[in-house]
Amino acid sequence: MTPRIIEPFRIKVVEPIKLTTPGERRDFLEEAGYNAFKLRGEDVLIDLLTDSGTSAMSAEQWAGIMRGDEAYACSRSFDRFRDRIQDIFGFEHVIPTHQGRAAERILFSTLCKKGDVIPNNTHFDTTRANIEYTGAKAVDLVIHEAHQPSKYHPFKGNMDIRRLRDTIAEVGPDNVPLIMLTITNNSGGGQPVSMRNVREVKAVAQQFGIPLYIDACRFAENAYFIKTREEGYANREIKEICRELFSYADGCTMSAKKDGLANIGGFLCTNDPDLAQQERNLLILTEGFPTYGGLAGRDLEAIAVGLEEVLHDDYLRYRIASTRYLGERMSLAGVPIVEPPGGHAIYIDAKAMLSHIPVNQYPGQALVSELYLEAGIRAVEIGSVMFGQVDPQTGEETPAAMELVRLAIPRRVYTQSHIDYVVEAVLKVNERKHEIRGLRIVEQAPFLRHFTARFARVANSEVAQSGV
Ligand SMILES: Cc1ncc(COP(=O)(O)O)c(C=O)c1O
Repeated sequence: MTPRIIEPFRIKVVEPIKLTTPGERRDFLEEAGYNAFKLRGEDVLIDLLTDSGTSAMSAEQWAGIMRGDEAYACSRSFDRFRDRIQDIFGFEHVIPTHQGRAAERILFSTLCKKGDVIPNNTHFDTTRANIEYTGAKAVDLVIHEAHQPSKYHPFKGNMDIRRLRDTIAEVGPDNVPLIMLTITNNSGGGQPVSMRNVREVKAVAQQFGIPLYIDACRFAENAYFIKTREEGYANREIKEICRELFSYADGCTMSAKKDGLANIGGFLCTNDPDLAQQERNLLILTEGFPTYGGLAGRDLEAIAVGLEEVLHDDYLRYRIASTRYLGERMSLAGVPIVEPPGGHAIYIDAKAMLSHIPVNQYPGQALVSELYLEAGIRAVEIGSVMFGQVDPQTGEETPAAMELVRLAIPRRVYTQSHIDYVVEAVLKVNERKHEIRGLRIVEQAPFLRHFTARFARVANSEVAQSGV
């Protein structure tokens, strides 16, 4: 029998969660226009909307909050923050920011210009938006296996090296100011990147004289996948793996709301002193003095402690095992998911599960609604509501490549019995899946419509006409 992996912590503070009745949930969902973003947090029982900024902090982190030095400039808390980051990531210049996208904005507005091209395995939406804001183009060059939900690949977040070379050759290296790699690949199912792939990307970057940056949000989860899946790393410490991985990079952006185990914060790193100076000048303009960058001293402390705790073997073993547990229990019972389970989330293939609902009736959004109605669980659609392209002239819509529903697991927040409850709810919805109807949009904004759109159930007559 394989040994049981337990939560490697005990609970010191509890936050009650509210049980609601099916009737109440129906009313709340209708009020929210079938959009989970509009549900009040207190009406949600298990919140799997995101793993960002939702971690439970440890006693040591709370102690750090009390230690926070709120000196405007050159605080002790900044020294601890910088030292911890230098120790793990190995970069010389550490620039604090209020969250990941602020680091992205500063990096891209310093390096990119109109007409440039920035390759990544898959750009996260804020990365893409910040690049496009400078007039540059963000291109995704992940391996093709990443687009096949049911296919197993141990490092489905890897960059396609041939397409990377071809892209640089096509646009010219002078128009590629940096290459990025997102670890793990959030928009591609939370899938890891192998050390070998990082080395290969670095070799291409070096050949063309282009800096390599890592989007490091889930760096510890990625390092654990390298330790457990890649030859030669089983006996290496997680920190050593991180040190090696970042040694191939020229800098990184980071949202500490993920593997910083903090509720807010981020940073930008580089080894280039001139670039660091330009970045600090921009930082002062919008974020704050270079030793706090939009954060309080106490936030810097919480991140410094979180970055140390996230590297513990027992924490990472539990973290990856609990995500895998959720994925395996669902897939063994016949629920189609993106395989293999990722680090921070499970993605249900809603197109495969609700194959009777045409993509223009948003099977992902319909599944999100059913999970809430069934059990008060909040998930998020990552499909045509989020990424469908609407032609402004004709109003015609091109659907997204996949119709996924993401169940993101906040760090150290839910116990195994919460996860068992989620599995039971998903299986119950799966049993009655043929009764589920699609949705239509009744109100939407021209940009980022998924946050605010309102939906209604399609009428029975429209169901009969479906079949796309
Ligand atoms: C891969 C990735 N990069 C960047 C970000 C942006 O970070 P933040 O939300 O802290 O701005 C996120 C947030 O979810 C992310 O997942």
